[in-house]
Amino acid sequence: MLVLGIETSCDETAAALIEFSEQGEHTILSEEISSQIELHAAYGGVVPELASREHLRNLPLVCDKVLSSAGKDIKDLNLIGVTRGPGLKGCLLMGLSFAKAVSISHKIPLIGVNHIEGHLLAASLDNRIAFPYLALIVSGGHTEIVIVKDVGTYEIVARTIDDAAGEAFDKSANLLGFEYPGGPRLAALADSVSSSPYKLPKVMRESAEFSFSGLKTAISLLVKREGEITEQKRANLSFAIQDSIVDALLFKLKTAIKQSGITQVVVSGGVAANRTLRTKVGELPGIRSYFPAMKHSTDNGAMIAYLAAQRFMRGERDSLDVEALARWPVEGMTINAR
Ligand code: KG4
Ligand code: ZN
Repeated sequence: MLVLGIETSCDETAAALIEFSEQGEHTILSEEISSQIELHAAYGGVVPELASREHLRNLPLVCDKVLSSAGKDIKDLNLIGVTRGPGLKGCLLMGLSFAKAVSISHKIPLIGVNHIEGHLLAASLDNRIAFPYLALIVSGGHTEIVIVKDVGTYEIVARTIDDAAGEAFDKSANLLGFEYPGGPRLAALADSVSSSPYKLPKVMRESAEFSFSGLKTAISLLVKREGEITEQKRANLSFAIQDSIVDALLFKLKTAIKQSGITQVVVSGGVAANRTLRTKVGELPGIRSYFPAMKHSTDNGAMIAYLAAQRFMRGERDSLDVEALARWPVEGMTINAR
């Protein structure tokens, strides 16, 4: 079975082609990603209208490239998986409309999938992991700890009530004068020092949920008080910020491990690229930790193709009136088998 996965929920136009054997084993044949970072850098963040237009321009190119580099033709496809939500509505509509057009013109089944569910299962692209496991999803838009019991069966243990972890990195980086996208730049500078004289408040330890807005306020006050930010100060502040965000993630993760008794942990989403977070999760005693490959931690087409195939193999199909959903929580999801 040959599956095309299409992802356009934010600022990356991504596609991938995955072949599944009759036993359900997968091989990624090709994957492409067209990033819009440069386009949005001038505005300091993603501009939804511009992102949608870019998706429209890039979608045929990216899909054509995955097919041609795998030596496949559109007629060889057995399934199209596309991100249906959550995400920027206009961006989602571009991917979904494109997928529908290919589906209708070549009579290929279509499945619109949940982007977060894609991240939840993404570690299976590169690892063999048995259910159940705990997934820490940390990206620019999401921060959640989820018990993954099976494909389609998820229990949310904690989620953020305001900013996502990636957003906390990016907004802090902005306050420190880093260029967009600031998160990875702040993290790299933080890793250049081994301690910091600055102490930031522990984030929401008493609550079951994540919240990063208080941290943002604390950093903003600290930066104002410090006046001129020298490079040394910037490195020390970056260290304290990274330490505080990673501490919050680890604290809730450890609580979830203790409460659930689950000893397998998957970390996924853009912030899973953070070296300190990877090291600290890897050092948790008695825990087997899994990380998707870097290219499958951030938004990608392979996780969408993989998830669509899992749902297809369980009997699910979508009709052509499937709609884009800007908000779409993963808990309580069921398989709509026909
Ligand atoms: O999953 P992703 O590529 O896109 C979505 O948000 O869906 O995640 C992007 C986020 C950004 O906020 C970026 O600053 C953050 O991941 N990020 C990092 C690092 N690399 C990317 N944050 C901390 N440390 C990093 N090394
Ligand atoms: Zn994502």
